[in-house]
Amino acid sequence: MPFPESFLEELAARNDIVDVVGDYVSFTKKSGANQFGLCPFHGEKTPSFSVHSDKQIYYCFGCHKGGGVVSFIMEIEGLPFPDAVHFLARRAGMTVPDEGGYDEAVQRRTRLLQANKEAARFFHAKLSEPDGKAAIDYINKRGISKEMTKQFGLGAAPDSWNALTDHLVKRGYSQEELLLAGLVRRSSKSGGVYDFFRDRLVFPVIDVRGNVLAFSGRILGDGEPKYLNTSDTPVYNKKRNLFGINLARKSRAEHFLIVEGNIDVVALHGAGFDSAIAPLGTALTQEQATLLHRYKGEAVLAFDADTAGQRATETASKILEKTGIRVKVLRIPDGKDPDDFIKKKGPGAFQALLDQRETHIEYRLLTLKQTHDLESDPGRVAYLQEAQKLLASLESDVEVEVYGQRVATETGVSAEGIKSGIKKLRDQKRKQAKRDMEKAGTRPSQSMQPKERTLRYTNPASAKAEEGVLRLLLQDPTLYNEALPLQPEDFSSPFLGRAYEVIRDRIRAGRENTAATLAPLFSSQEMGHLIHLLNQPEDPAETKQALSDYIGKIQAEKRKQNPEANLLDIYKLQ
Ligand code: UTP
Ligand code: MN
Repeated sequence: MPFPESFLEELAARNDIVDVVGDYVSFTKKSGANQFGLCPFHGEKTPSFSVHSDKQIYYCFGCHKGGGVVSFIMEIEGLPFPDAVHFLARRAGMTVPDEGGYDEAVQRRTRLLQANKEAARFFHAKLSEPDGKAAIDYINKRGISKEMTKQFGLGAAPDSWNALTDHLVKRGYSQEELLLAGLVRRSSKSGGVYDFFRDRLVFPVIDVRGNVLAFSGRILGDGEPKYLNTSDTPVYNKKRNLFGINLARKSRAEHFLIVEGNIDVVALHGAGFDSAIAPLGTALTQEQATLLHRYKGEAVLAFDADTAGQRATETASKILEKTGIRVKVLRIPDGKDPDDFIKKKGPGAFQALLDQRETHIEYRLLTLKQTHDLESDPGRVAYLQEAQKLLASLESDVEVEVYGQRVATETGVSAEGIKSGIKKLRDQKRKQAKRDMEKAGTRPSQSMQPKERTLRYTNPASAKAEEGVLRLLLQDPTLYNEALPLQPEDFSSPFLGRAYEVIRDRIRAGRENTAATLAPLFSSQEMGHLIHLLNQPEDPAETKQALSDYIGKIQAEKRKQNPEANLLDIYKLQ
């Protein structure tokens, strides 16, 4: 273990989990020592995220993530363990003990970030040199101003296989580091390395702290591939970042403007719409939505008007709404992207579009309407059915009222008829949900399954007993001796077996098993599951008996799975 445990305990003590989580979550309900709020890790409308002030743990009853204060920071800030420790140490004004070696990973990441920053400077400086001429011409052709070029730190990757490599090697970066940062590739022929970005306009991807994480390089003109992007590296995860977030999060606008292209982002900022961001060529992810939710409560989607763009609008809306972000959709006429539109019509026209932005439901109704012929009876019926389905999924009665009225007017059908149709659909859904719940209730082995697929149990009967052993050991470490006959291999669940080994060995070494000390050893999904099983009821008067019952059950299940072991046992008995 790189960090001394006493230090981790102190770190946890000085960073009260209620305060730390309170920076990200607003608590709306209190029940005993538990505070509840909306989960920052998955979308929800009713709070199922809890923080326990005595136990100093968090747990979400919805997505089953959980852990101590360090795991919370790892999860929400997307930091590896050592960085999360540094983050909390800074927060509490503590110095991290200098043990040497423990922050190797931190040091490596720092080096990669420095290499990236140096590369960004190199690319940017090229714009005023002869071998950046082609890029400057392209920048001018696309109407990108000097100011925006500077603000986004755009640059030119020269038409060379080694210009960047040579520059960075001269500054002391090893080929290994450049490979790790994704700045160079290794040639399978010569074994040497070559510049990844060549003859391209480069967009640095910068995070909210101002670190240069990656690059996106556009070809100068037409050709394939249009963009080259840095793949994931130790400092970059494309699922967790958005192009332009470093600038857009500071915008005074109440919304983020989400567009498809890097070029659109730059053009929009140039026209004064400084909350524009783009998800770097991937569909919007849950992680990106969570990041956005930290800064603003509304997102306006301005994707391209083609079918791909419509689909992207659908999926992004769902993710954003789940995360608790209000979604509006901007419809750009004539299939243009925001960059085209602003070039042709000007910022004023774009502002007008923005003012007319539709709620997501309006957008979907309009899209529906366009796919049906409302002049014909069958077309109207089909539209009505689809529209009712759509409205039945709304949570708010007011919305149902307003949009139901609108659909009624459009189709010439009575509003009462539409509303009763919606009510029927909602009732059906409610009944189905109830049936599902009841079904789940009668199959306890299903409902006890960990949410994370990789942790799923293959033998729920044994796993239930295995959970019991862990629960008892965590609650009462003095039971350690009673558990001795049990080996990690006896567990049917590899995860529970590993957890048993860790917990048993720690007790043996006289260490405490708290959320703070266990966090570095398990993922937040795993911690969440441990906390969940810890919170299951257990009779405190009968712990010894319970433990021996659990052990008996685990061993019996193991024999069932492995009849040969059974035979051996019989021989042993004789
Ligand atoms: P677009 O093709 O719309 O690019 O792709 P663009 O940035 O708007 O450029 P122009 O205006 O057509 O010149 C949208 C985004 O998808 C990603 C890039 O992030 C791009 O900005 N993309 C696109 C890739 O990652 N790779 C590609 O080959 C193409
Ligand atoms: Mn585009």
